[in-house]
Amino acid sequence: MPTILIVDDDAALRESMAETLGDLGHRAIEAAGGSAALDLLAAHAIDAVLLDLRMPGMDGLDVLARIRARSRPPAVAVLTAVATAANTIEAMRLGAFDHLTKPVGRADLADLLARMLPAAPAMAAASLPLDSDELVGVSAGMREVQKTIGLLTDSDTTVLIVGETGTGKEVVARALHRHGRRGTKPFVAVNCAAIPADLLESQLFGHVRGAFTGAVTDRAGSFRDAEGGTLFLDEIGDMDPAMQAKLLRVLQERVVVPVGGKPVRVNVRIVAATHRDLAEAVRGGRFREDLFYRLRVVPIALPPLRERLADIVPLAEHFLARAAGPEVPRLSAAAASVLLAHAWPGNVRELQNAMQRATALARRPVIDAADLGFLGLPPPGETDWLAGDLETAVRRLETAMIQQALAAAGGNRAEAARRLGIHRQLLHAKLHRYGLGASQSRTDGVREADD
Ligand SMILES: Nc1ncnc2c1ncn2[C@@H]1O[C@H](COP(=O)(O)OP(=O)(O)OP(=O)(O)O)[C@@H](O)[C@H]1O
Ligand SMILES: [Mg+2]
Repeated sequence: MPTILIVDDDAALRESMAETLGDLGHRAIEAAGGSAALDLLAAHAIDAVLLDLRMPGMDGLDVLARIRARSRPPAVAVLTAVATAANTIEAMRLGAFDHLTKPVGRADLADLLARMLPAAPAMAAASLPLDSDELVGVSAGMREVQKTIGLLTDSDTTVLIVGETGTGKEVVARALHRHGRRGTKPFVAVNCAAIPADLLESQLFGHVRGAFTGAVTDRAGSFRDAEGGTLFLDEIGDMDPAMQAKLLRVLQERVVVPVGGKPVRVNVRIVAATHRDLAEAVRGGRFREDLFYRLRVVPIALPPLRERLADIVPLAEHFLARAAGPEVPRLSAAAASVLLAHAWPGNVRELQNAMQRATALARRPVIDAADLGFLGLPPPGETDWLAGDLETAVRRLETAMIQQALAAAGGNRAEAARRLGIHRQLLHAKLHRYGLGASQSRTDGVREADD
């Protein structure tokens, strides 16, 4: 019978989880804190650990780091009431098996353990601390992205980031760099679409003086500028075929040849991005298949904003806080509904611009629906509530209604459930499913504005 260690300072939660584990055929042992957990790990054969993040005394991430530093560590899943980008990335980077938002129901727990128990202790322990959480996002889609970033930061794996315009591809590329061990080395971004084809070669690989008319001095080129760090090849889908061939060679051999010069070995991590459908470009003969596979070692797909409704209000508040002067304006509940109903073809960038515009125009402590008139919303009932498949449409509507109810109920879940006419348990399940669990504290502004 597998033995599972539950680490949580909440006794009631530990007990109910232990009971569920017992039902599922596991033996559960409990620790109320980090040091007790480490003692138990030393004394017992533990197959998996369920670890709370916020505990008095030793912090969950410290406990995780110490467990992962043991010689044959068990798989550790982090369960937290408040999931942030920073703690998700950091937990995954420290080698957590998974990162879940509480409450974790019986079915989720069974699924988690089924995945955890056969898992070999493979991931390496790491140590760098993590500072910012600029990568705002609490939706299930963004949390997947954050987890992937955490798993990839310390490797040199080539990553291809795809997503519509304004979804945050560059932010993700920077996060991959900043959180990893190359973080103190340069991050160099090159927009392959903005540079004329005949100049891109010398931009990337450099040139020696006199190699061509206008080459009056030596130039190192972006690959060498990024030495030891990360080279971000943005809009890679727009690179012309001749350059694609040269880039492929560099990726294979890790050597660049400056125009007119001799080969130079380079050590850079490549992160590429495009808003184009590269697979389609490969089929159409516009993008080399071999280069596609070499870049796409690990793909990260950023969902469009309309498919991660849970992120809209937190992002809006993030941008308001950054755009504002002395007093940060708040969003009224009606304004939040307008934001949720908008289709956001320009994604996060459009939302950022909208918040800047609204703060510039509003001059009031509360941003109301009227201040967002420029979004040109179709009349209610004719928005794209019906776009996509049934599941997407239902998710869109449920998320909007839940966020509105929570805002109107001042973040009180019992009250929000009452307003929605559903059982509290069902609300919890939906909050969890849509990744809305962590955004409650951020709706404070909405709540006050609504009063
Ligand atoms: N998750 C996020 N958290 C905070 N800010 C974000 C997030 N995603 C995007 N942004 C902001 O939105 C703007 C657009 O992001 P970014 O430039 O990374 O998009 P992109 O996908 O590279 O767009 P494009 O395809 O047009 O180049 C930036 O100002 C960025 O800071
Ligand atoms: Mg970009």
